[in-house]
Amino acid sequence: MGKLRVAIIGVGNCASSFVQGVEFYKKATEDDSIPGIMHVNLGGYHINDIEFSAAIDIDKNKVGKDLSEAIFTKPNNTYKFCTVPKSGITVQRGMTHDGLGKYLSEVIEKAPGDTVDIARLLKETKTDVVVNYLPVGSEEATKWYVEQILDAGCGFVNCIPVFIAREKYWQKRFEEKGLPVIGDDVKSQVGATILHRVLTRLFRDRGVRVDRTSQLNVGGNTDFLNMLERSRLESKKISKTNAVTSQLDYDIGKSNIHIGPSDYVEWLSDRKWAYIRMEGTTFGNVPLNVEIKLEVWDSPNSAGVVIDAVRCCKLALDNGLSGAMEAPSSYFKKSPPVQYTDEQARRMTEEFILKYGWKQSKPTKRKLTLKAKAETKTANRMKKTTAAKAKPKKRVTRRTLLKK
Ligand SMILES: NC(=O)c1ccc[n+]([C@@H]2O[C@H](COP(=O)([O-])OP(=O)(O)OC[C@H]3O[C@@H](n4cnc5c(N)ncnc54)[C@H](O)[C@@H]3O)[C@@H](O)[C@H]2O)c1
Repeated sequence: MGKLRVAIIGVGNCASSFVQGVEFYKKATEDDSIPGIMHVNLGGYHINDIEFSAAIDIDKNKVGKDLSEAIFTKPNNTYKFCTVPKSGITVQRGMTHDGLGKYLSEVIEKAPGDTVDIARLLKETKTDVVVNYLPVGSEEATKWYVEQILDAGCGFVNCIPVFIAREKYWQKRFEEKGLPVIGDDVKSQVGATILHRVLTRLFRDRGVRVDRTSQLNVGGNTDFLNMLERSRLESKKISKTNAVTSQLDYDIGKSNIHIGPSDYVEWLSDRKWAYIRMEGTTFGNVPLNVEIKLEVWDSPNSAGVVIDAVRCCKLALDNGLSGAMEAPSSYFKKSPPVQYTDEQARRMTEEFILKYGWKQSKPTKRKLTLKAKAETKTANRMKKTTAAKAKPKKRVTRRTLLKK
């Protein structure tokens, strides 16, 4: 299989964890079990096959720097788990639009100079997949970049709550261009969203009626600083709330659910604290309450998911799939075109990988990932057992006995 060339829009904390992660796991063997990714070799693409082709930002302190340096430039403040060697990728000046809100403009100064021709940059760098890491509320900027991506002919992984993959209009635009999109708003490995979804599903499956629930999040990164501006939060709130309510088959009423970023606590840096409370009713109309606090480094929590998402997007490109990719979007994103339970979504994504992986390597024998190998072995064994059971036993006659 070939390489997978990825461009990044927004070289913030999430980009930092993503770039560090690709470097950190580049020597992983296929037997390694890596926390936070589905497969070391996903459908034929090893983590090491991910190459960064371009990086775009508008911060004066990041534009013009090598990507390996820009990811550790303030105000980025995430966990450094890997030193990244010089990449040869210089951060290019993007288009600001509504990227910088009230609070980010206080800590980020726009780089001087003109916006580079983004579509051309993506074409010239032979970019396969573009990842969107813009700040929450970057509606206009995201749509502007999506036009460049469509023009350049790349796949798109949308990690932010600006709705593209789940919108009919944009689905059609990607279909018309024969390009895939996976989105919207990345669902972290074990973040507040998945924890809240699983708890909600547990209540539903065990017949506990959910009466009221809340999720209060605080953090100290620029994502949280930006989200102090409430007017930028509308789609974030929709995205997070739907991700939870989609796990119920009844309406608990708008006033009984509150989910959203609550405050910015600078000394937390890239750590996030999520307080989840669920109030329910059990047998005999007796109340049951659950309260959980999650403490997590926000950005590394999403990086493995993005490593898998870009590889699924490349499989879609290799197979000529276009429009919104339903299965990977439902597993990797909070706001996919269709919501499933996390278990269903994972199964559908594994099926997607098995179906579309390794299509390019025609001359060589189709190699399978370890898990797939094990699954195939079990399936073959089961087939044999069923066949043996179904086969009528040879009649033992006197002649056959004599032959023995
Ligand atoms: N686990 C997670 O961290 C997680 C989960 C879900 C969604 N997200 C979303 O991912 C996005 C990125 O998060 P982050 O923590 O990296 O944010 P961040 O604030 O660290 O990074 C954003 C970057 O975008 C740059 N930028 C701003 N406007 C731009 C423009 N017009 N063009 C190019 N670059 C621009 C900023 O300079 C900054 O470098 C956010 O929208 C966040 O809500 C993150």
